[in-house]
Amino acid sequence: MSGQGKHIADIRSDYRMAALDEARAGDDPLALFMTWFSEAEAAEITEVNAMVLATCDSAGKPHARIVLLKGLDATGFVFYTNYNSAKGRQIAANPNASLVFFWKELERQVRIEGIIEKVSDADSDAYFQSRPADSRLGAWASNQSSQIADRQVLDDNYAKFKEQFGENIPRPEHWGGYRLVPQHVEFWQGRSNRMHDRICFQLSDGKWAKSRLAP
Ligand SMILES: Cc1cc2nc3c(=O)[nH]c(=O)nc-3n(C[C@H](O)[C@H](O)[C@H](O)COP(=O)(O)O)c2cc1C
Repeated sequence: MSGQGKHIADIRSDYRMAALDEARAGDDPLALFMTWFSEAEAAEITEVNAMVLATCDSAGKPHARIVLLKGLDATGFVFYTNYNSAKGRQIAANPNASLVFFWKELERQVRIEGIIEKVSDADSDAYFQSRPADSRLGAWASNQSSQIADRQVLDDNYAKFKEQFGENIPRPEHWGGYRLVPQHVEFWQGRSNRMHDRICFQLSDGKWAKSRLAP
């Protein structure tokens, strides 16, 4: 298979920018994540907070999509969405989930696995009200993941809610935040000759255990 340029099978890069060793990784994966995130921001990576979120439905079938990281603290990774969406239904059926960041300009990947919980209503309200009015109306207008007849349905809904709410747009009950509480975090630093560094942290009895995996 080929596009305009090379055959897809011939596309490859060698990674030479940096290394990750056990000492540099430290003992706290959230601290290391924050360092890597700051470095990705400093490198002016676009959509630096975009992450793949993988969830499983009640039959164990996986589903993945991008969402935006909107909060991070010692308790976990926060994103916002529609609780009635496909992902919301999957999370309700199975709270195990996984996140992946890929910061290609730094030749880095971070994989996070854990359990998802809802954030408090107060946190969801505060974040919702910080969003531009257009986005707040969008949360009302889109019954996310449901099938719609055409684009007009969305535009009509948007106009209807704009008329209904005016300046005061409350948070819909079906829209809010989730926090992925991590149990496993892996930092991948690309190295030359496919001899990459992979440092993992596994939560066990409330403590992070660090190990190295073969690339
Ligand atoms: C860059 C980017 C950022 C996105 N951020 C979000 C987000 O923060 N929340 C969200 O619900 N969907 C976001 N989406 C849309 C999701 O990828 C997805 O289409 C949507 O949430 C519906 O997924 P679902 O049907 O599996 O629930 C984003 C998509 C892209 C490409």
